[in-house]
Amino acid sequence: MATNPPLIVGLGGSLSPSSSSRRALEVALDAAAAAGADVELLDVRALDLPFYGAGRHAPGVDRLTAATAAADGMIWSSPLYHGGVSGAFKNALDWLQLLADGDRPYLSGVPVGLIATAGGSQGLQAVNAMEFVVRALRGWTVPFVVPVARAWQAFDGDGRPRDDAVAAQLATLGREVAQAAERLAA
Ligand SMILES: Cc1cc2nc3c(=O)[nH]c(=O)nc-3n(C[C@H](O)[C@H](O)[C@H](O)COP(=O)(O)O)c2cc1C
Repeated sequence: MATNPPLIVGLGGSLSPSSSSRRALEVALDAAAAAGADVELLDVRALDLPFYGAGRHAPGVDRLTAATAAADGMIWSSPLYHGGVSGAFKNALDWLQLLADGDRPYLSGVPVGLIATAGGSQGLQAVNAMEFVVRALRGWTVPFVVPVARAWQAFDGDGRPRDDAVAAQLATLGREVAQAAERLAA
């Protein structure tokens, strides 16, 4: 077991103020916290990142890279856009290039849990797209993933899942990432 609680950093959401992918991420992070982890939410909308490579730096870039470099585990949550992840979410991942030459390059040894929300039922497409990125960044995906279907009706006004099965799946993912982070740190 790690001496200190593992830090689980959630990265995701869309540019929508009522983002379902951010709500899903918050539910999973709550479960990781309940399992004993410290948690931090990196909301893609709030990070307000410039495009990677555009030559402009921003406070959100420092927050993203500092939190990711400190993370013992991560949870990613993107909407499904045209069979893949959203451009805003992918741009956040592109900024992790700044971690290439760190003490721990990219996400080396870091477990990552994956969530996608979709208008239809094909959220697994975005999950699969994210899995390739985790591997490219030398991270480890946890086997359990959560594609949330019919995202427009999946959460109530307070951000809670309407379907108990979705709530249970997101909680399972949060716990699994917290446990994987502890095991990998041991
Ligand atoms: C540009 C765009 C592309 C989309 N493509 C798909 C798609 O291919 N399949 C699907 O089921 N839903 C698709 N959707 C619906 C989104 O996946 C759905 O609205 C999303 O879960 C919303 O996430 P958010 O609430 O975090 O913004 C698309 C939405 C947008 C805006």
